[in-house]
Amino acid sequence: MQDHQQKTVVILGIESSCDETGVAIYHSERGIIAHQLYSQVKVHQEYGGVVPELASRDHVRKLMPLIKTSLDEAKMSPEHIDAVAYTQGPGLIGALLVGACGAKALAMAWDKPAIGVHHLEGHLLAPMLEEKSPEYPFLALLVSGGHTMLVDVKALGDYEIIGESIDDAAGEAFDKTAKIMGLDYPGGPLLAKLAEKGDGSEEKFPRPMTDRPGLDFSFSGLKTFAANKVYASDKSEQSLANIAEAFQQAVVDTLVIKCKRAIKQTGHNRLVVAGGVSANLSLREKLAELMSKHGGEVFYPRHEYCTDNGAMIAYAGYCQFVAGNKDKGQEIQVNPRWPLSEAMTSQLGR
Ligand code: KG4
Ligand code: ZN
Repeated sequence: MQDHQQKTVVILGIESSCDETGVAIYHSERGIIAHQLYSQVKVHQEYGGVVPELASRDHVRKLMPLIKTSLDEAKMSPEHIDAVAYTQGPGLIGALLVGACGAKALAMAWDKPAIGVHHLEGHLLAPMLEEKSPEYPFLALLVSGGHTMLVDVKALGDYEIIGESIDDAAGEAFDKTAKIMGLDYPGGPLLAKLAEKGDGSEEKFPRPMTDRPGLDFSFSGLKTFAANKVYASDKSEQSLANIAEAFQQAVVDTLVIKCKRAIKQTGHNRLVVAGGVSANLSLREKLAELMSKHGGEVFYPRHEYCTDNGAMIAYAGYCQFVAGNKDKGQEIQVNPRWPLSEAMTSQLGR
């Protein structure tokens, strides 16, 4: 371990858990030196959601070219790479297998270790790629299309989930509400943009599960509430914008109220916000307000590291490498339902 900390470490990272093929190279002194991302959004758009089989096939097409481009971008050849990190879970099984197969095959051919990384650990650690980087311990709000959770992050691999959604994730609620409004997939950012045109005249939406103690979330009722508003409206752009505004404010307020409680409960004064929904400007504004009131700080990944990407996997792989963790066997295994609390225990028994 001492050795690893002293010498330069270069990690190739592969993300393929859902509908983005991401490849990046992390250099321990220079940071991210290659970052390639291919979004399958166009492939899935006409179906209004991710089609797992199409996702797997598209990863197969894109993975190797992106690895080649990444090596070229970093001006690196395989002998410079110390390990190949890949998303081992959670995610779509076929999509994960594509990244895992590619990573394990390269690791074997290059005679380097492979490191299976937890996708959510990647999101949690992504703000550490920024100049303003959080130190452990911190509170993390993870808000993506698949997850909404509050995590007490004590150290690398020491993650306690203290609150999570009992139904839809925040991003999922954004996407489903946007779909009802007739917006394209993924609708979250489009709904947020439409909300900017709201005139504040829509009635206030409920703030689910804030009237009782606890840190869990529920967003599916809010989505239904918004749907009923859409059906009852004249569907003009202004009416939809007003509904979008009220919906967004309800989601954002709910997240902020729970963050405030979690800060009180844990005593942390550092808040990390990660996952696709952390790109939401209204959420950022309100969380900045909250943390400045508490004399604390908020940390975000830059925009391109908020949604799924290879940089966060390369960085999480680097952290695991330095901690002495790597896959033990050659067999290829992924874990589509890997609990974050078990992030240090890879499927391959590290
Ligand atoms: O982390 P991510 O790329 O993928 C998952 O692992 O889910 O998150 C994607 C989610 C989608 O639901 C998308 O609609 C949402 O993040 N999202 C937003 C915004 N930008 C992306 N939701 C609300 N406002 C945004 N500006
Ligand atoms: Zn994600």
